[in-house]
Amino acid sequence: MNTVIIFASRYGTAKECAEILARQIYGSVDLVDIQTEGVPELAHYDQVIIGGSIRFGQIQKQIKRFCRENIEELTKKKIGLFICCGLLENAKQNIENSFPQQLLDHAAAVECFGGKIDLNKLSFFDRIITNMVMKAVDQQGDKPAVLVEKIDRFCHEMNRDITKEWMKDFE
Ligand SMILES: Cc1cc2nc3c(=O)[nH]c(=O)nc-3n(C[C@H](O)[C@H](O)[C@H](O)COP(=O)(O)O)c2cc1C
Repeated sequence: MNTVIIFASRYGTAKECAEILARQIYGSVDLVDIQTEGVPELAHYDQVIIGGSIRFGQIQKQIKRFCRENIEELTKKKIGLFICCGLLENAKQNIENSFPQQLLDHAAAVECFGGKIDLNKLSFFDRIITNMVMKAVDQQGDKPAVLVEKIDRFCHEMNRDITKEWMKDFE
């Protein structure tokens, strides 16, 4: 089973999640940063995982374009979709804005893995905006965090077919 994880990340959270996925998905796994490496040849892969992060309500435009331009080929493969975002109450809406409905309907796993904010990494502009957002988040008592249990659940779904194949050997 060959899997490619295609991701976009501004400050590293979606990249970190993609790397965790790469360690937990069974079989051969390639990681592709769509913003620096471009679009891979999909014909090599049985499974495609696509993910990015949310900034002002939007996922990276390269992810949107890739999904739109490859929708036909993607819907012939097993697909996993993920986002990283800071405000979990908006996760469902952010997911719906990020991926075409056809791909969401087809996907075997769709998750929001949460998010992280390291103020030291942010540009001046982003730090001002994020300070405002974090004040709002603080009032609700939740700090943005990567939700490892959601990554585990996602991998469980993506690995299900391979696990079934292995189980046949013991039947
Ligand atoms: C400038 C800025 C804008 C953001 N806008 C949103 C947003 O609209 N909604 C949200 O849920 N999270 C938002 N976030 C939180 C990010 O999605 C979160 O920090 C995520 O972990 C970033 O992932 P990345 O490092 O892979 O880009 C924003 C963060 C920054 C710095």
